[in-house]
Amino acid sequence: MPYAHITGWGTSVPEPVLTNDDIAKMVDTNDEWIRGRTGIRERHIAREDQSTATLAVEASLKALELANLAPTELDLIIVSSSSPEYIFPATACLVQDQIGATKAGAFDLLAACSGFIYATNMAAQSIRSGSIKNALVIGSETLSRFVDWKDRGTCILFGDGAGAFVLQASDKPGGVLSAVMHSDGSGADTLTLLGGGARHPATETTVLEGKHFIQMDGKAVFRFATRVMGSATREALELAGMTTDDVDLIIPHQANYRIIETAAKYLKMPMEKFVVNVDRYGNTSTASIPIAAVEAFEKGTLKSGNKVVFVGFGAGLTWGALVAEWTGPIPTKKHVYTIQYRLFARLRSFFRRALRFIEGIFSRREL
Ligand SMILES: CC(C)(COP(=O)(O)OP(=O)(O)OC[C@H]1O[C@@H](n2cnc3c(N)ncnc32)[C@H](O)[C@@H]1OP(=O)(O)O)[C@@H](O)C(=O)NCCC(=O)NCCS
Repeated sequence: MPYAHITGWGTSVPEPVLTNDDIAKMVDTNDEWIRGRTGIRERHIAREDQSTATLAVEASLKALELANLAPTELDLIIVSSSSPEYIFPATACLVQDQIGATKAGAFDLLAACSGFIYATNMAAQSIRSGSIKNALVIGSETLSRFVDWKDRGTCILFGDGAGAFVLQASDKPGGVLSAVMHSDGSGADTLTLLGGGARHPATETTVLEGKHFIQMDGKAVFRFATRVMGSATREALELAGMTTDDVDLIIPHQANYRIIETAAKYLKMPMEKFVVNVDRYGNTSTASIPIAAVEAFEKGTLKSGNKVVFVGFGAGLTWGALVAEWTGPIPTKKHVYTIQYRLFARLRSFFRRALRFIEGIFSRREL
């Protein structure tokens, strides 16, 4: 049975920064309160010309370049997002087109902030089963577009960004070692975005009622999160035949510093083993784990061969954890320049659209 290794990674974070002081100019809050309750100092907010798909494409190209894997070699693309480009088509299909992944299947996955763990596990299981060889997993969000900037209970929390992993089959042991995924829909109403779906299609009333914004019972989410972070970590470690002593690094979902601290206490592990960057990015939902992982790697905290646990929770309610041995690129002589593929993808997309247009003219004549 092949192993599923993480062989490439990349992020894309918009440059514009929104500080706590900036938010204090919009709602009745202050830097001290936000930092004290959440650990957040600032977050990045997408420019008008950026979106969930554009951030996903940028992160993906970086991940593929590092893995030295051509987009044309991808078998599967999964985009995890709670702020997809559209209800449909899937953001994953837009990424497939824009990077030129000619033979890849593509779909979106919605498991909120736990989504990156779910998606990585799904891709790893497809590789482990032998049905595919190369997968691209992306967590991408522009939640700033769905935040009510008049609601101080939520607008202080979220930020935009994307992170991507390339997963590849290999006979060498390692890569994704175990994972657990959980859900509890009885808590569905604690964190929601109700408008625009089948239950509440967009109308003037849904807009006036604020149904197109994120709504949250912060205290309930906090209690739930502190309960599941530690237990999911232990469960995934047990499945991998490991204990907390075997873990080099925990990379948790970056929602709130206090939630991470509580998980550390529960697991009796020092905070030094936890990657924390919520102070500079806020909660980027499903993108937070890959962004934290890539940053830890770039800082030298996360190294090849390290045993890591990714653990997260979110709306649904959902939660999960995944244990992996961090690999790094599979040695190869070739060097993939993704910029060439980006160009090729644009041309290919243009010609396919033109062909579809011409086909439309001729089929109309035949009718
Ligand atoms: C949102 C969160 C920071 C709020 O912290 P809290 O300690 O629960 O605060 P509360 O909502 O009980 O509010 C306490 C007081 O602060 C006030 N307050 C709320 N937001 C505020 C803000 N941004 N600035 C200043 N005061 C604020 C409240 O009105 C309340 O005032 P009152 O006591 O006079 O009524 C916290 O509940 C949390 O982090 N929850 C988890 C959310 C999360 O992670 N969501 C994403 C999941 S993926």
